[in-house]
Amino acid sequence: MSRHVPVGMIWAEARGGVIGSGGAMPWHVPEDLAHFRDRTRGCPVVMGRKTWDSLPSRFRPLPGRTNIVITGDTATFRGLTESGAMPAHSLPEAVDMAHAHAEGAHTVWIMGGGSVYAEAVDSGIAELASVTRLDLDSPGDTYAPRLDPDEWALVNSEPSQGWMTSSTGLDYRFDTYRRR
Ligand SMILES: NC(=O)c1ccc[n+]([C@@H]2O[C@H](COP(=O)([O-])OP(=O)(O)OC[C@H]3O[C@@H](n4cnc5c(N)ncnc54)[C@H](OP(=O)(O)O)[C@@H]3O)[C@@H](O)[C@H]2O)c1
Repeated sequence: MSRHVPVGMIWAEARGGVIGSGGAMPWHVPEDLAHFRDRTRGCPVVMGRKTWDSLPSRFRPLPGRTNIVITGDTATFRGLTESGAMPAHSLPEAVDMAHAHAEGAHTVWIMGGGSVYAEAVDSGIAELASVTRLDLDSPGDTYAPRLDPDEWALVNSEPSQGWMTSSTGLDYRFDTYRRR
């Protein structure tokens, strides 16, 4: 029988839930990038086409991870294969593909953006959420999904109280949630 590999979401959010602005992340926190690399290493990652577009071309596909990109556009679908990503037509299809490439992985990670996180929460596909909280007011146009406390439990915080301080001076913390 095949082993169950859980589906998690991973994102960083500013106060008020901002995750993006103008197609990019409106901050640079190296500790969060390192955290993202560590948590997703060796695991398939699923993302929407706009998040794929937001990655600098020299960093994509993200190395050491099967990159699965969701698009509804036929021409984009074909081009993604040439760019080293696996295209998918929908989130359920993308997650099925990720599970087929999850040998040795502890998690299938959904890595954005806003529209894909929202579908992953509303559809029940996501079981975990790894959230970096940034103690920052940031303008934005894309938001994290709401994790209803009746449905999601906070299971770990690092640090357990308060904040860590980035080399950039920004305070941040890592919170992990599990669907009840
Ligand atoms: N702070 C963080 O941790 C974090 C993480 C990731 C992303 N972000 C930010 O989030 C923003 C991007 O998020 P977004 O919501 O605008 O876009 P997105 O979710 O990255 O991508 C949306 C695109 O994905 C495709 N798609 C999504 N769901 C689909 C479905 N069910 N069926 C078919 N295609 C589907 C469509 O592509 P087509 O248009 O090609 O059909 C759609 O236009 C950026 O600002 C990015 O920097 C932040």
